[in-house]
Amino acid sequence: MNRRTFHRMALGAAAGSLGGSLLARAAGAYEPTWESLKKHPLPEWYQNAKLGIFIHWGLYSVPAWAPPSGEPGKVDPKKWFTDNAYAEWYLNTLRITDSPTYRHHQETYGKNFDYYDFVPKFNQEVMKWNPESWAKLFRKVGARYAVLTTKHHDGFTLWPSGVKNPKRPGKLAASRDLAGELTAAVRGQGLKMGLYYSGGLDWTFTNEPIKTFGDLMRMVPQTEEYARYADAHWRELTDRYKPAVMWNDISYPKAGQIPQLFSEYYNAVPEGVINNRFSAPFADFTTPEYAKYDKITEKKWESCRGLGFSFGYNQVEGPEQVIAADKLIALLIDIVSKNGNLLLNIGPKPDGSISAIQLDRLEKLGDWLAVNGEGIFDTRPWVRAAPPAGRGADVRFTKKGNSLYAYLLARPQGQSVSVAGLHAAGNMKVQVLGAAAPSEWKQSGDDLSIDLSKAPAGPFALGLKLTPAPTPVG
Ligand code: GLC
Repeated sequence: MNRRTFHRMALGAAAGSLGGSLLARAAGAYEPTWESLKKHPLPEWYQNAKLGIFIHWGLYSVPAWAPPSGEPGKVDPKKWFTDNAYAEWYLNTLRITDSPTYRHHQETYGKNFDYYDFVPKFNQEVMKWNPESWAKLFRKVGARYAVLTTKHHDGFTLWPSGVKNPKRPGKLAASRDLAGELTAAVRGQGLKMGLYYSGGLDWTFTNEPIKTFGDLMRMVPQTEEYARYADAHWRELTDRYKPAVMWNDISYPKAGQIPQLFSEYYNAVPEGVINNRFSAPFADFTTPEYAKYDKITEKKWESCRGLGFSFGYNQVEGPEQVIAADKLIALLIDIVSKNGNLLLNIGPKPDGSISAIQLDRLEKLGDWLAVNGEGIFDTRPWVRAAPPAGRGADVRFTKKGNSLYAYLLARPQGQSVSVAGLHAAGNMKVQVLGAAAPSEWKQSGDDLSIDLSKAPAGPFALGLKLTPAPTPVG
């Protein structure tokens, strides 16, 4: 989109426009201001969504290999990059010649096999992919949105870009419009589609590996050439696919036109959301990675993580690395009770198939949500996420309408449970989600004692719906 169109669009968009200030317009140059961008209201759909599916898919899905060293935060930071558990970092780890990945690569593919020699194989395999099957799966799991890596750090694009890579004029793109086809399929299932783009790192612009956390920001290409390239990519993605989420990664080149990109984006997708990894003065939500907040926060957040230790498919991973279904369910509940969404990542194989262990976790989560999703989706955090510390069962709360939902993170041993710190009205009804009839309950001091004898059997968290909502005490 050229500057003229953008100007017209920004002026043309009515009250909802987050274009620029009058002052800036009067001065001649069109400059959207942070003040106006910061007014962007967080759309309801994103607050209601709670669960999204993140997809890391690209050239790295071909070797699909990384040492399963651990989750971030649980590995010695000095070893993180050499022993990188993120399989999508394959190229960087390969550039570190004393890494396990370097050794694996030599043994498997030989000395002369370049990372970009994986292009033909990836492009041949993706021809087998069926976008509908993914979109149907995401819907079945209960996700409300999906986010696809359109360009990860290796610079390979999952859409046929009209923008030439100045460093690699040859084709460094997928043989199908994976971004466009998935967008159509996901929307066809009634879900929102977001796009990930690595604005901060592009390893086609450098040959030097990142070996330390100190290197990470130093390796963001700061040339004018790269800034124009990344800007043009984000503009193209916005124009063509109108993504519901602008999910940038790492940061952004200093010479990039962030406020203009945001303004153009909100004009094109008023109901869109932008993450905080542009490192800009405004974002719709924050993005803790393999991490979560321990309190309800005012600012919306979205926690992302792989099912295992990696985002990209890692063939080495098994049950030791992949999160167990009960933990995954408890994680989602905990996040939602504190105003977060979970962006749960899958790492598909090059042909689009998903490993049995990842499918298993998705299916169990979907089955659980089919019964218990009522107190997850479209809810808001309550006045507190959990009962007073150390009292009663381990519970997380959410609210919707005049009901309070109390999820028991672990199955209680006995036939009843104590939920601490609640005063209920005499007419309160307690329904265990999935049970055929309401449950008996009684107030005992500041706690509620609830009968669970009618609760459905199973190993996962139980949801209790309390109507009208009790009041918090203690
Ligand atoms: C990171 C990683 C990356 C992954 C991502 C997801 O910063 O570099 O491999 O794509 O964030 O949150």
